[in-house]
Amino acid sequence: MERLHITGGRPLRGTLAVQGSKNAVLPILAAAAAVPGRVVLSNCPPIRDVTVTRAILEGLGVAVQSSKGLLYIDGTGLRGSAPDPTLAGQLRSSVLLLGALLARLGRAEIPLPGGCVLGARPLDLHLRGLEALGVEIRCESGRLLCRGRPRGGVVTLPYPSVGATENLMLAALGAQGPVRILGAAREPEIRDLAAFLRACGAGITGAGSPCLRIEPAPLHGASHRIQPDRMEAATWLCAAAATGGSLRLTELEPACLRPVSELLKQAGCRICAQRGCLCLEAGPLWAVGPIVTGPYPAFPTDAQAPMMAALLRAEGCTLFEETVFSDRFRHVPGLRAFGARIETQGRLARVHGVKALHGARTAATDLRGGAALLIAALAARGESTITEARHLDRGYGELVRRLQSLGATVEVEK
Ligand code: UD1
Repeated sequence: MERLHITGGRPLRGTLAVQGSKNAVLPILAAAAAVPGRVVLSNCPPIRDVTVTRAILEGLGVAVQSSKGLLYIDGTGLRGSAPDPTLAGQLRSSVLLLGALLARLGRAEIPLPGGCVLGARPLDLHLRGLEALGVEIRCESGRLLCRGRPRGGVVTLPYPSVGATENLMLAALGAQGPVRILGAAREPEIRDLAAFLRACGAGITGAGSPCLRIEPAPLHGASHRIQPDRMEAATWLCAAAATGGSLRLTELEPACLRPVSELLKQAGCRICAQRGCLCLEAGPLWAVGPIVTGPYPAFPTDAQAPMMAALLRAEGCTLFEETVFSDRFRHVPGLRAFGARIETQGRLARVHGVKALHGARTAATDLRGGAALLIAALAARGESTITEARHLDRGYGELVRRLQSLGATVEVEK
């Protein structure tokens, strides 16, 4: 998807089933490389990051088949320890193969990963944690060369990095003794990874708390349903709020969305949550906040850009503070093109609500930033074009069809 043409100003209305979580399925796909057996994953989102990860796994000798949201993965034939650098360079989560390959083979050669450009995204926490478990690591011509089966022990993370927690969990599967991770990330996606690994026979306790314990055990194949995507759900809620629409989202866990849904409620939306379902009825919006991003259960950094887009016309001034990534206001110039009034200063952004937005031509710079531009375009009067829209393919499956099902006028130019 290269370019999107949007005629804005129409409220989004209808019912939508939330897709499976991108940030849950990617570590689980990496984990499948550590399993010498057949894994069946359901509710897999049809997004590019999954397609790329699948190709990486196949290049390592893992057999993968797919059919209607199901992935059948058989890691029995895993032979390679060096993922294809071109493919791995396209997404940050490829670094999670480090832990999975170390657990299975005791070696891994990982190209330095790609993904969205959100400021510095170092791997020091991943690498220091693995070294604390006795893994030898060298960096050579853009690749990380890792050797050695991890030993048991305690790793303390000074910051609850999601990726570092996942990598250490995966490496610990092949450790010589129990591993404890202190200061672990508590995101719902960590819980999903732990649930999958437990289904495969691993002994994992404490997922969702800062203290995880992994007991090495022989792994076997299993079936697992990927949890709903709370970031996709947040994006749809923000789009409905921005356009004055009404939306019923199904197949989600409302509790995981609370930091987002509570703020939308404070901003003037009527929200009602039931088991597996959340309804939003938008009204006139007013400023809320300050909205400070942080590790779970704080407001998620991935929802910051969509929420900013939702509040561009809210009466008053909303302050955003981005504490997770150093360069996550890259969508701001694009939002200004629609007539938004936003001031930024370092990690702070002040949004002064305007009466109306107008159509614009802008370029997506990253996945969630691209979603913010799309929301602004849907809320703006007139025609808009979003170029570099391929960033959206990384995390939103069947985007155009689903937008159209809610009454949006959107067309894609390939
Ligand atoms: C994951 C999510 C991403 C989300 C982020 C924060 C996936 C595939 N991606 O990314 O969508 O925005 O969590 O919720 O699940 N850091 C270091 N050193 C490290 C590791 C991280 O300094 O070794 C820093 C990062 O630069 C960043 C912060 O810690 O500033 C958070 O990063 P982390 O939690 O690791 O995010 P990711 O796992 O990359």
